[in-house]
Amino acid sequence: ESIKVFAPATVANVACGFDIFGFAVDNPGDELILKKSDRKGVRINRIEGDEGRLPLAAEKNTAGIAIIKFLEFIGEDGQGFEMDLKKLMPLGSGLGSSAASSVAGVFAANELMGRPLSQKDLLPFAMEGERIACGSAHADNVGPSLMGGFVVIRSYEPLDIIQLKTPQELYATIVHPHIEVNTKDARNILKREISLKNTITQMGNVAGLVAGLMLPDYDLISRSLVDVIIEPIRSILIPQFDDVKNAALENGALGCSISGSGPSMFALSKDLFTANRVGKAMQDGFAKVGIGSECYVSGI
Ligand code: HSE
Repeated sequence: ESIKVFAPATVANVACGFDIFGFAVDNPGDELILKKSDRKGVRINRIEGDEGRLPLAAEKNTAGIAIIKFLEFIGEDGQGFEMDLKKLMPLGSGLGSSAASSVAGVFAANELMGRPLSQKDLLPFAMEGERIACGSAHADNVGPSLMGGFVVIRSYEPLDIIQLKTPQELYATIVHPHIEVNTKDARNILKREISLKNTITQMGNVAGLVAGLMLPDYDLISRSLVDVIIEPIRSILIPQFDDVKNAALENGALGCSISGSGPSMFALSKDLFTANRVGKAMQDGFAKVGIGSECYVSGI
């Protein structure tokens, strides 16, 4: 008995919502084949597309650990599995690569076990994958990768996650420059304290973005895609950040910021034509200093 699943890449934070907002895109993503086996334990046969960098030991692998924790929870840790993972997206890119693997793993295991848990109930196990990948069990990548669309993590304890309605026409452009940023490092450089003034600004934008998506009101979405807390610090890790962001805005994007912990940058646009033009302009911004990139455009 085996199953082949796909889990999509995600844009976490979405400017103002550090650790609480994220959305899924159509591509790229991870493909995973899971097979039941008579031998106890989770075995990873093969990982493609990671240049040999990801651990094959199941308990050190984001997909492996998610499955192990899930099996323990449902009291079936005697069940064995074999896994093949195909990474169809870059690692360390800010696109939720580790999250896509854990989601694919736990989703596939739940299906093969006859779906003992609901999709939402699989989240805590996928979050365990994030914990081993970067030391923090945030849900803003695994949430949207598992559930699709745009999600809000209202609370971590207890976990309270909401799927938001988004406008019929809304497109994401993601540009991945060929540099790497480690999520753990990108979290460690953040300040532990924030000012009341910045908190107020950020809360206004968080509320504005939710309202803008639901109304929908594109101008409000645009005004709210502002991050005064995280972006000013993390943007120093991304060469050409200001140039690329300005290029996106000048070409009609509603907003532009860092995707997850970077170095990828995302922009939102009202229509597909603009989203493609924005992508080209953003790539040109990186190319000016000799940095190659990939661009992905997708509906949200
Ligand atoms: N919210 C997380 C962060 C996402 O920004 O560190 C990491 O992909």
